[in-house]
Amino acid sequence: MTQPAIQVQNLCKDYGAIKAVDLINFEVAPGELVGFLGNNGAGKSTTMRILTTYIPASSGYARVGGFDVMYQSAEVRKRLGYLPESVPLYPEMRVEEYLTYRAKLKGVERSGRTKRIDYCLERSRIKEVRRRLLGTLSKGYRQRVGLADTLLSDPPVLILDEPLSGLDPVQQEETLSAIRELGGQHTVLFSSHHLPDVEKVCDRVIIINRGRIKFDGRLSDIRSSVPTVLIEARGTVEQIEPHLRAVSGVLDMKSIPTDAEYAAFEVKAESGHDIRESLAKRLHDRGHPIRRLELQREKLEDIYMRISVRGE
Ligand SMILES: Nc1ncnc2c1ncn2[C@@H]1O[C@H](COP(=O)(O)OP(=O)(O)OP(=O)(O)O)[C@@H](O)[C@H]1O
Ligand SMILES: [Mg+2]
Repeated sequence: MTQPAIQVQNLCKDYGAIKAVDLINFEVAPGELVGFLGNNGAGKSTTMRILTTYIPASSGYARVGGFDVMYQSAEVRKRLGYLPESVPLYPEMRVEEYLTYRAKLKGVERSGRTKRIDYCLERSRIKEVRRRLLGTLSKGYRQRVGLADTLLSDPPVLILDEPLSGLDPVQQEETLSAIRELGGQHTVLFSSHHLPDVEKVCDRVIIINRGRIKFDGRLSDIRSSVPTVLIEARGTVEQIEPHLRAVSGVLDMKSIPTDAEYAAFEVKAESGHDIRESLAKRLHDRGHPIRRLELQREKLEDIYMRISVRGE
């Protein structure tokens, strides 16, 4: 088996009584593009700071490229590009000058430096501001200079903490395209609050809430998950439920509130069964006219709301 690019085992970080990261485990395979989601204060940046060797964990392990973030931090840093939440830049430097300085620091060979900087400017869509002073750039452009910086030494692993925050919709699209292009060649872990964007580019999402990982799955699995049928028919819950239960392929159901004279249910079916016609026929035959019948698949947004808003 190939070695994971990122490996997190029983990781904890306490700040006094606050458990910012509370016993988390996950692995990211080489070339995977993973969205790291969670509300404000969920523990995303803390996890990323540990992975990038900026802060020590309270307990547990993390490895990047097989190297321990605590005991082999220099090796880890060589393999990482890190875009922190707020990018520290020198306001009096010009973009190109800054990237040259950073490339030298990161040991990018002199012979290939100009070419590499050009490539990073291109990838981060900031060629047009290469001669501007950093202090005069808008937040979105500063963020993208940060992204160019993370790519300078062509590290296999990129950890991007909210690369899309504060960007206007056009810039968000551009940055997303840049991130999408980076997947495959690089392992990318990026945090965000903006679910539609994550859905556009990621293979997989990890959702963290109050320091704990509550969901870790592939978007393709979410899309092909067992659907729920929403059904509303005339009658009481007691009258209708037995009829629904009698339909073959029905696994489970939950009644949901609706107005008087009607009963509404979310019905779960066995995988591969489309039970809509059988449900409709049975209720119709037993004298319960149907007002609503819909197939619903749980979307990333539903999962996020369930975890991060309702704390389930
Ligand atoms: N240096 C610190 N001292 C004390 N508490 C901290 C420190 N850094 C983070 N925390 C706390 O740890 C928890 C997790 O914070 P973290 O910054 O990791 O969240 P986040 O998921 O990145 O949130 P956001 O979406 O707002 O960036 C929060 O309760 C935060 O207040
Ligand atoms: Mg954060």
